[in-house]
Amino acid sequence: MNEGKRNVGRLVEEIGEERPKHPEASAAPSTLSLPITVTDLEEDEEVKVLANVANTNLGVLGFTEHGPRHFRLVSRIARNVLKRLGYDEHMQELAGIAGYLHDIGNVVSRYDHSLTGALLAREILIRYKVPHEDIALIMGAIGSHGDDSQRLGEAVHPVSAALILADKSDVHRSRVRNIDQNMFDQHDRVNYASESSFLRVDPDNKTITLELKIDTEISQVMHYFEIFLPRMLMCRRAAEFLGCDFHIEINDVALL
Ligand SMILES: [Fe+2]
Ligand SMILES: [Fe+2]
Repeated sequence: MNEGKRNVGRLVEEIGEERPKHPEASAAPSTLSLPITVTDLEEDEEVKVLANVANTNLGVLGFTEHGPRHFRLVSRIARNVLKRLGYDEHMQELAGIAGYLHDIGNVVSRYDHSLTGALLAREILIRYKVPHEDIALIMGAIGSHGDDSQRLGEAVHPVSAALILADKSDVHRSRVRNIDQNMFDQHDRVNYASESSFLRVDPDNKTITLELKIDTEISQVMHYFEIFLPRMLMCRRAAEFLGCDFHIEINDVALL
């Protein structure tokens, strides 16, 4: 194990408050078929407005892009995590829906947006007559994904674990809204330095690896960890919830 990997692993451990988890006791989805798909949500007028205003509000406050691009990507990655790990199509679709709706709470406020988002999603899903058990799972996933207000969300079932992993792995240049590099904050710089990010799920080896390509002329690898350490802890816990180890590779070097 290289020095960097050892240090990062220690830092992630140190900020963790661990208690025994019981993934096997997770709430079950409904046995009914789902009356909507992610595509319905993409075309839904209310969702469009909530998503766009939420993204606009965050732009005003200087945050990176949290709009339809982020929603679609997180939806796709969350679905893929469960697909690769052998969960059925119903669970995959729930992950996709949770992914698409997960950040709409930012229309209310950045703070506690996961909680407000869960409640907003409930109203939308009731409108489509989604089974109550499935609404409950989606609410738990959205409500548990946040890392604002000095608290880290924790996975409460596989849909929620997949959402955390998908959301936290979206680090990319295209999310930066500032056009003037002199105005970049640390988040902008790290996102701007990220030329690609890929969440690799290996069901045979039970590993989930975030593979990043970072332009180290713009941001040092350690800057990534300074900013994203809490998120990495969330990812590690979420991966463990799914029975996997979490790893990070930056520029082909294993760091966690
Ligand atoms: Fe969020
Ligand atoms: Fe997000």
